[in-house]
Amino acid sequence: MAPPIVILTGAGISRESGLATFRDADGIWARHRIEDVATPQAFARNPDLVQGFYNARRAQLRDPTIQPNAAHHALARLEAKWPAPVTLVTQNIDGLHARAGSRNVIAMHGELQKARCLACSAVSIWEDDITAHAACPACGAAGRLRPHVVWFGEIPLEMERIEAALDACGIFIAIGTSGQVYPAAGFVQAVRRQARCVELNLEETEGTALFHEAQHGPATQIVPAFVERMLASCG
Ligand code: APR
Repeated sequence: MAPPIVILTGAGISRESGLATFRDADGIWARHRIEDVATPQAFARNPDLVQGFYNARRAQLRDPTIQPNAAHHALARLEAKWPAPVTLVTQNIDGLHARAGSRNVIAMHGELQKARCLACSAVSIWEDDITAHAACPACGAAGRLRPHVVWFGEIPLEMERIEAALDACGIFIAIGTSGQVYPAAGFVQAVRRQARCVELNLEETEGTALFHEAQHGPATQIVPAFVERMLASCG
């Protein structure tokens, strides 16, 4: 009987789509300070700087050369063919899993192409810049929109749904994440006594020893091969 699967992805799965990771040498945190652009205090202190940081990353997603890659597509195929539930928990805000066809996706750090209204809390699709006077599509309030992205110090989204999926899973696969940011970094500890835990990453991470199996290489190579072996094993 094939068990339910939980997959956790991080920025590494989108690297070969052309999006930067955070902690690699050429990563986003090598060029920006978290405390300047990714905390509620930063937004209160200098909203234009924070909006500008996310507007630039959102503009990148409008670039037609930024597309889901073979790793994203392999995970959509796994969800479609695996004979038990597959829950895809992503730390990424780039929307590439949904564009690749994954359905059961939990974007625990939010989504870059959505805006949240500070006046009415509505979350709206938003693919352009959020400007200082942009109006909320739901309530019309002007200048009250923030990126629908979870900042450091804020609570990730849908944690109850994530915990329920982790409790039920028999296989946990972490892909393209350095395992530095909690609560995502703690998921493997929570499930490693009940589930087979697999790390698929470019290189070893600090958490590699916590996994029962680890494969290292570019996601577009190791993820499709891993998925095909999984699907072959379940007949
Ligand atoms: N294929 C597979 N893995 C890769 C590739 C690749 N082509 N390129 C890089 N990686 C790996 C790196 O080795 C690293 O372990 O992806 C991982 C990226 O780690 P981070 O940059 O720390 O990104 P992530 O783990 O997603 O960060 C988690 O931190 O800043 C916050 O909110 C942000 O969601 C992010 C969270």
